Amino acid sequence: MHLPWLVKYQLASTIFIIITLTKVTCFYFNFLTFQKENESDLLLSKNSLIYLDAIQVTPDIRGRIHDYSGRAFYNKPYKLWSKKKNQIASFNTTFVLNITPETTPGGEGLAFILTSDTTLPQNSDGEWLGIVNATSNGTSQAGILAVEFDTRKSFTEDGPDNHVGININSINSIQQVPLINTGVNVSSGINVTFKIQYMNDMITVFGSMTGFEESMKTLLVSPPLNLSNYLQEVVYLGFSASTSNYTELNCVRSWEFSGVDIADDDNKSLLWVYITVPLVIVIIIIGGLAIFFLYWQRKRHMEMPEDAYPRIEDQIQYSSMAPKKFKLMEITKATGGFSPQNKLGEGGFGTVYKGLLDNKEVAVKRVSKNSRQGKQEFVAEVTTIGSLHHRNLVKLTGWCYEKRELLLVYEFMPKGSLDKYLFGDKTFGNNTLEEGCSSTLTWETRHSVIHGVAQALDYLHNGCEKRVLHRDIKASNIMLDSDYNAKLGDFGLARTIQQRNETHHSTKEIAGTPGYMAPETFLTSRATVETDVYAFGVLVLEVVCGRKPGSVYAQDDYKNSIVYWVWDLYGKGEVVGVVDARLKKEEIKEEEVECVVVLGLACCHPNPHHRPSMRTVLQVLNGEAPPPEVPKERPVFMWPAMPPSFKEAEDNSLIQGTLTPFTEITGR
Ligand SMILES: *[C@@H]1O[C@H](CO)[C@@H](O)[C@H](O)[C@H]1NC(C)=O
Ligand SMILES: *[C@@H]1O[C@H](CO)[C@@H](O)[C@H](O)[C@H]1NC(C)=O
Ligand SMILES: *[C@@H]1O[C@H](CO)[C@@H](O)[C@H](O)[C@H]1NC(C)=O
Ligand SMILES: *[C@@H]1O[C@H](CO)[C@@H](O)[C@H](O)[C@H]1NC(C)=O
Ligand SMILES: *[C@@H]1O[C@H](CO)[C@@H](O)[C@H](O)[C@H]1NC(C)=O
Ligand SMILES: *[C@@H]1O[C@H](CO)[C@@H](O)[C@H](O)[C@H]1NC(C)=O
Repeated sequence: MHLPWLVKYQLASTIFIIITLTKVTCFYFNFLTFQKENESDLLLSKNSLIYLDAIQVTPDIRGRIHDYSGRAFYNKPYKLWSKKKNQIASFNTTFVLNITPETTPGGEGLAFILTSDTTLPQNSDGEWLGIVNATSNGTSQAGILAVEFDTRKSFTEDGPDNHVGININSINSIQQVPLINTGVNVSSGINVTFKIQYMNDMITVFGSMTGFEESMKTLLVSPPLNLSNYLQEVVYLGFSASTSNYTELNCVRSWEFSGVDIADDDNKSLLWVYITVPLVIVIIIIGGLAIFFLYWQRKRHMEMPEDAYPRIEDQIQYSSMAPKKFKLMEITKATGGFSPQNKLGEGGFGTVYKGLLDNKEVAVKRVSKNSRQGKQEFVAEVTTIGSLHHRNLVKLTGWCYEKRELLLVYEFMPKGSLDKYLFGDKTFGNNTLEEGCSSTLTWETRHSVIHGVAQALDYLHNGCEKRVLHRDIKASNIMLDSDYNAKLGDFGLARTIQQRNETHHSTKEIAGTPGYMAPETFLTSRATVETDVYAFGVLVLEVVCGRKPGSVYAQDDYKNSIVYWVWDLYGKGEVVGVVDARLKKEEIKEEEVECVVVLGLACCHPNPHHRPSMRTVLQVLNGEAPPPEVPKERPVFMWPAMPPSFKEAEDNSLIQGTLTPFTEITGR
């Protein structure tokens, strides 16, 4: 599992998007000091330069310092307001000034300025502070906002030496505050920290002689100023200063700026956001889906045993004449959601429900989910019975494999299974069949049932393309239609055998129902044509006697007590005595009964060589041949007693068979 990696990835991309978003909403820079290298980060006017870790706005060049003006800007413009967004930015900036007077008082002063025009106006020295000159003063062309730190009163309207003022497009302040009582002295020659905040249309100026946040004094609060009325949308941030006859060193020692970034148009950073944000969101979604998918897969994986139902569809689809594949939804609907009311019965590996599909009554076998055996039997059933068509075989009309549900759809048999009529009252007292389970079958019906099963078996053994061994012939696997015609069903254990390939005339895995299993099965562990015949013989005797193969009188199942019992009476010449007591004396045709009983015993011959083939059985039932000779006493089972078909197949498999006589038996 790559889960931890994915989670990390998800976390990282989330953090990344947060950083991305915060970064682009802020315009920030911080000069802790100014070095020569920072000249490229700044736009300096001709007279200004970096020297002694500071911007010297009006430097002393070889002793000449009077009548200077200068400007220094950060080299990237700042979006102050946006017409499109109808939005005005806000910012905080903190800088340290050092103004050392060379005359008394020092002159003229320094200002923090915002303007879109970085060029220094001509003749802006002296009283103009580098902000405007005589021409531009007071005109909107100036396009400048200044927070002046004036060190000398230079005209009548000007404040006293050392004052702070707000100027818009003019050297005359719209508001000015003397610093005399604030403890802040701009031109004392030592470092003074100022902070300017522009927020909610107001400019606030703070100052401190120590630089500590808590010693900051509010020097000036401007009236509401909508800067979009005076300045262009994009401005440069910086400082200007001037000297006259009165001189001073105007130095900026450090500068930090932090502003809300409202840049919108073709600004690269915003484009970056437009690309990055959706991309990151997509990455997060994909990551999330991947995690979900992996969890889901793992969950599914854990639910499914490893090789639960590998390629079940392939196995079925490749078999010829496969029956119809249904959708689980259709079948669920047909059976009323597998309602207990529609339950017909419960078998070895599943439950059978009645349903209505395409306006036809059907029986649906639902193979129990947890049965590994169930799957093999499911495939066997679909591939064998699905390709067989005979009037005495239960017709498989469809199947379904969805959501681990294995479902088989058969034609509906209104009269249910044969065993319910043979052993009726005793075993199925509370069954739900519509019609008389207590009603016994007439002799005629019984004879027709035997005949029908014989025809079905003959078809399986000799009539179809591939020889099929049913391997589980018993009363409960014989179904009756509305006219009591017998139909052989439940091909869960059936195996097909290539007719051409004689070497596979038997199948090794032994399975079946005790009581119906031929004696040699326990030694050879082989299902053969002869073992099917033996089970048929037991069924014949059952039908005639109306009792179970291994009754309560039987001491052990293998000896098939019904065979012993009938043979015993047959030996004593009391064949008619075996007939079901529920049958009326007058309807019994003694000759026919005797013929059938003898035929049944012949099929149950302990020695497989002596059992008739299904072809012969049919001939006898049709009256085309006499019943086979059957000894008066049940012959002893002779070992080895190899079935003819088995012997011709593999001669040396006998040894194998005798070595593992009982281990492979899977009774049902
Ligand atoms: C100033 O220059 C130094 C040295 O080159 C550099 O590390 C620093 O990032 C620059 N400051 C700014 C705000 O660009
Ligand atoms: C400026 O500082 C104030 C107070 O410290 C703060 O509330 C405001 O968010 C800051 N503005 C910016 C753009 O950093
Ligand atoms: C003021 O500056 C502008 C542009 O720099 C210039 O054209 C103009 O002549 C200057 N005015 C004076 C009085 O020097
Ligand atoms: C500021 O400091 C200078 C130099 O120390 C001094 O001459 C001047 O009087 C001071 N001004 C104020 C307002 O304190
Ligand atoms: C600023 O002025 C402009 C133009 O007069 C106006 O559209 C905008 O709404 C004003 N903004 C604020 C915050 O007052
Ligand atoms: C500056 O000083 C010189 C000589 O000291 C003087 O002639 C000149 O008038 C002064 N200028 C101003 C603007 O005060």
